[in-house]
Amino acid sequence: MSKIDITVDGVKFSVPENINLVEALSHQGIQVPTLCWYQGMDECLGTCRVCTVKVGGRHSAACTMKTQKDMTIEFDTDELKDLRRGVIELLFVEGNHYCPSCEKSGDCLLQAQAQDMEMTHSRFPYEFNNYDLDFSGKNILLERNRCVHCKRCTELFSDDEGHKVFSFIGKGAETRVVFDHEREKKLSPHKAKEAMDLCPVGAILVKGQGFSKPYGERKYEKEPLWEKK
Ligand code: SF4
Ligand code: FES
Repeated sequence: MSKIDITVDGVKFSVPENINLVEALSHQGIQVPTLCWYQGMDECLGTCRVCTVKVGGRHSAACTMKTQKDMTIEFDTDELKDLRRGVIELLFVEGNHYCPSCEKSGDCLLQAQAQDMEMTHSRFPYEFNNYDLDFSGKNILLERNRCVHCKRCTELFSDDEGHKVFSFIGKGAETRVVFDHEREKKLSPHKAKEAMDLCPVGAILVKGQGFSKPYGERKYEKEPLWEKK
């Protein structure tokens, strides 16, 4: 793979050409925050904008960009840090997130990003939207108050036969994640757990398993995002 030069905050780096920008920066020790994207992911969903940087002076979602020769990137500026934190704050007020009692606490990427950004509160008013929960599944419980509409479950998850299980209904503020009841019923325990782990927040839970992993052993407790910096 040929190498090219890119500039990040005025510093030149030599990186492989045409690879995911977040991945390329991560290899240089620059951790761009993400929520819908994760390392090794082939397709970019580009739904959350938590990874916003400036490329050539324009705001861009870094996870949707590939490295190109002579790219000029701004990342660690006060403006961009504030903007990325603002996106996280908006997600907190748009949903109903109660971290201390959430089954996914410690394993939640939204919570980990907020902690990493030292967010203590949101500058935006809380909306207290009324989202209904779906307890009707055999294996899975949908806690829609926590859904950040990242599309990981709808785009990246399929059952053992390759069928999609999750989809969205409604439009705009009325958009809700739902599952196909017949296919959900047939999910193996392994597949149900895969869906729970794929969700970056605590919106998809395996019934009876929410608290099975002890506190202290959860992903972002063992490997805090800020320790990667
Ligand atoms: S349920 Fe989870 S994975 Fe699916 S869209 Fe909502 S936050 Fe994303
Ligand atoms: S991580 Fe890039 S848009 Fe979500």
